[in-house]
Amino acid sequence: MRRFACLVLLAVLLAPVVTAGEGSDDREAILSLLAPRRGESIADVGCGLGTWAVVLAKAVGSEGKIYAVDIDPDAVAAARRRIEKEDVTNIEVKLSFPDDPGLPADSVDAIFLNDVIDWVERSALAGFLAGLREALKADGRLVIRDPSGGPDRVIAELYRAGFSLVEAKIPLEQAPERSFGTGWYALKVRRAEVQPSILPRLGRPTRYRVRLHLAEELYRMGLLTREELRARWEAIRDRPGPFDPAVDEARDLTEAARALDVLTDEEAARVLERARERAR
Ligand SMILES: C[S@@+](CC[C@H](N)C(=O)[O-])C[C@H]1O[C@@H](n2cnc3c(N)ncnc32)[C@H](O)[C@@H]1O
Repeated sequence: MRRFACLVLLAVLLAPVVTAGEGSDDREAILSLLAPRRGESIADVGCGLGTWAVVLAKAVGSEGKIYAVDIDPDAVAAARRRIEKEDVTNIEVKLSFPDDPGLPADSVDAIFLNDVIDWVERSALAGFLAGLREALKADGRLVIRDPSGGPDRVIAELYRAGFSLVEAKIPLEQAPERSFGTGWYALKVRRAEVQPSILPRLGRPTRYRVRLHLAEELYRMGLLTREELRARWEAIRDRPGPFDPAVDEARDLTEAARALDVLTDEEAARVLERARERAR
């Protein structure tokens, strides 16, 4: 359903996309942020109909290579048809999975996501970003451009996935009428030195999330090995017991707050009792 909505949106936006991709200031702004150079390998992930893949294929020249990747078979077929009509031979079109962009490791100098990140299913996002990070060469760059809801959540997810912010273009005010070119934000990130998250982080109940988060922070600090973290993860995941989201969420947060001296024992007990009463 979401995919279909996306294709409909694509169709509606096609004319403006062409404008943005072929000649407007917006196109120049994006290209100057992405800065494609001749001979580079670049992945256009969530390529849709392949508009940007063609622009990038021309920018990197025949000695360069473009991967045009999408999870939607209809989009992939449409991109193939579109690319066949162009004078370019350096684009490889690939069907990918939601949590795996399917790019070879250490293979690309840059990755471009144009209006994609907000379409990635929440439960797939950690795997998706991990796959992008793995595909980037060590000094590679990832440029994300998106219209939706501001970049805060995306920046946080990128940090968790082991990227660091290089540049952000965030509009000071949303355009009153949201055209294709205004009101968007763009982010450029690179692989960070910090260990990326190896755990699925999203789409899980808070009970798991808080515990996983605490275990993973210990791993990030170098106090747990990767194997120990995996063992913790499995233990947390398989922990038996009834599941009551309302109380579990409050208990997890209360435990964490208690451990960090945000709440005293008495306050923590009071907060938890309130959560139990509310759940009854
Ligand atoms: C709004 S369209 C944008 C298409 C294109 N980037 C453009 O600028 O015209 C979003 C695209 O992202 C794709 N997509 C969504 N989730 C994806 C994922 N996890 N991996 C790859 N592509 C994805 C959708 O199938 C769709 O083609």
